[in-house]
Amino acid sequence: MTGHPDVADRATAGFSCGYDATPAGRWAAPGRVNLIGEHTDYNDGFVLPFALPLRTVVAADPQPGERWTVRSEIADRPVDFGAAEADSPGRVTGWGGYVAGVVWALRGAGYAVPGARLAIASDVPLGSGLSSSAALEAAVLAALADLGGLDLPAERRPRLAQRAENGYVGAPTGIMDQSAVIRCRAGHALFLDCRDESVDHVPFDLDAAGLAILVIDSRAPHRHADGEYASRRAACERAADLLGVPALRDVPVADLDAALARLPDDETRRRVRHVVTENQRVLDTVALLRAGRVAEIGPLLTASHASMRDDFAITVPEVDTAVEAALAAGALGARMTGGGFGGCVLALVEAAAAEPVAAAVRSAYAERGFAAPDTLTAFPAPGAIRLP
Ligand code: GLA
Repeated sequence: MTGHPDVADRATAGFSCGYDATPAGRWAAPGRVNLIGEHTDYNDGFVLPFALPLRTVVAADPQPGERWTVRSEIADRPVDFGAAEADSPGRVTGWGGYVAGVVWALRGAGYAVPGARLAIASDVPLGSGLSSSAALEAAVLAALADLGGLDLPAERRPRLAQRAENGYVGAPTGIMDQSAVIRCRAGHALFLDCRDESVDHVPFDLDAAGLAILVIDSRAPHRHADGEYASRRAACERAADLLGVPALRDVPVADLDAALARLPDDETRRRVRHVVTENQRVLDTVALLRAGRVAEIGPLLTASHASMRDDFAITVPEVDTAVEAALAAGALGARMTGGGFGGCVLALVEAAAAEPVAAAVRSAYAERGFAAPDTLTAFPAPGAIRLP
């Protein structure tokens, strides 16, 4: 999943070729995987993502006026827009929409956004559920904030990047991905309370435990993922209303049975059960990590997958196959990560078992006639930074 040559060099080269100039700086933001806590963020709950060593890099310099020109290594032509397009949500479409969305969100929050020329390169695979869009938003936000000398502390950035995605691009996502790619630290998972955005950096030293996280890109085509995501979110909000709580986060696991008894249908009960039990699994995972009992989180990961498959109904045969094959080959735990309907699976494995487990997943895929999955071994990397 890594590109060649180095992604930062590609961004610089894209800038130099495109604009015949040297960039004023380069800003990088990573992709992420979520260790556990799925579809809990927009329920004001808990998540535990970590940043990947795969990054998106933006090389940029200021340009006069309210004009933004953006080149990407995945596109032949630049995207160019001014204040009128930036101020009309949805007007710039495709990958350029994420850039325009950041300009829109910053302007909406009252910041004087500098005009800029940008060039983008990325090692984060697109459409694999590793938050390539959040990485792009975060790198652009960091570039514009520095170029404009904007007073914008890291804690305030995830909401602005999320607003770009929700309000400009039109995807009703929660706060997890943008928080992960901006606030994560190397060697740590980010324990985030999505209600008040407080964080705790939980040490996650896989090497010391002799373990590895294998990330398997299921390569399943995203089937109606946007509509299904929005409908899960709406179902959770309806259920919270019915239960008379601000969000499903407010249903403690001890009160789950009583809450379920008050809900009108089985589907709603299953959606609520996923969210309430998933929040508890995040808390249990954090407690084990803090106690240095890393290998013991495996069963919680696997339970999370079962809950997404059976209660939240967001998995597809490719991801279920990857999870089953990884577990059968000795993984300590495995689950789909991200919004669902495709994307990636993560498996916690003994370090020496990473390759045999990957091979077992590849052969299970071949048996079922699925496209061969990509794999990478992940470790917790830093969040968005300005490159030297
Ligand atoms: C996507 C969204 C996140 C979160 C996850 C599911 O990644 O962008 O906000 O809801 O799905 O946990």
